[in-house]
Amino acid sequence: MRIICVEDYHQMSKKAANIVASQLILKPNSVLGLATGATPLGMYKQLVKTYKAGHIDFEEVTTFNLDEYYGLNKENEQSYYYYMYDNFFQYINIDMKKVNIPNGMARDIHKESLAYERKIRSCGGVDLQVLGIGRNGHIGFNEPDIKFEALTHMVRLDEQTIQDNSRFFDSIEDVPTKAISMGIKTIMHAKKILLLANGKEKAEAIYGAIYGKITPELPASVLQLHPDVVFVMDQDAASKLDLEKLKEEYL
Ligand code: F6R
Repeated sequence: MRIICVEDYHQMSKKAANIVASQLILKPNSVLGLATGATPLGMYKQLVKTYKAGHIDFEEVTTFNLDEYYGLNKENEQSYYYYMYDNFFQYINIDMKKVNIPNGMARDIHKESLAYERKIRSCGGVDLQVLGIGRNGHIGFNEPDIKFEALTHMVRLDEQTIQDNSRFFDSIEDVPTKAISMGIKTIMHAKKILLLANGKEKAEAIYGAIYGKITPELPASVLQLHPDVVFVMDQDAASKLDLEKLKEEYL
């Protein structure tokens, strides 16, 4: 596990974009696992800048998003498909046929989930998975008490997640209560993982993920078992960590 602590959100976004960019430079046909939410927005902006400056190319890249709300179609402004197009894909030269996001409108979620897993495998697996983290330690939409062996599946969102995500909706009643999400096992199969966190409200979850017991009660704690994971966070998210001790342990 590698921990990178930077000053602020802007630095976190730049660092994260540089890590993704170097992945694409080393392997232009990388398979990227992508996240949504507020945290990676700055990273996507930086990646667009790097692309426009001619330093990276997305032509051969394949992407798999972590999750999608159940019951929202692609045209819905709150869907993660819309988010990804609006904030990232429209600005880069990605082939939209190589973009994969779970279909929140699928009639048969089990079938959709199996097909998603199969497709990830047929593309050779995820090379670099980008993650955010929920205040309750969720990754993807794998809420506390998830089974670590879960693959892509339908999940029920926690009250806290619904509350947190209501900031993106007109009212809390509009927030879907279910989603399709890669499971912990899917995430753990990624060759590399890059987790981003900013803000004081993430400090507790970050502390648990790094120092805590490995437990489904704090899904991100499972990352301690991954062989190639980097946490990039700002000072607020790192505020409960003993950085001097970490330097000795991880750097
Ligand atoms: C998003 C996702 C979630 C978010 C997490 C943090 O695709 O899977 O795990 O990363 O809820 O969200 P923000 O970044 O909005 O704090």
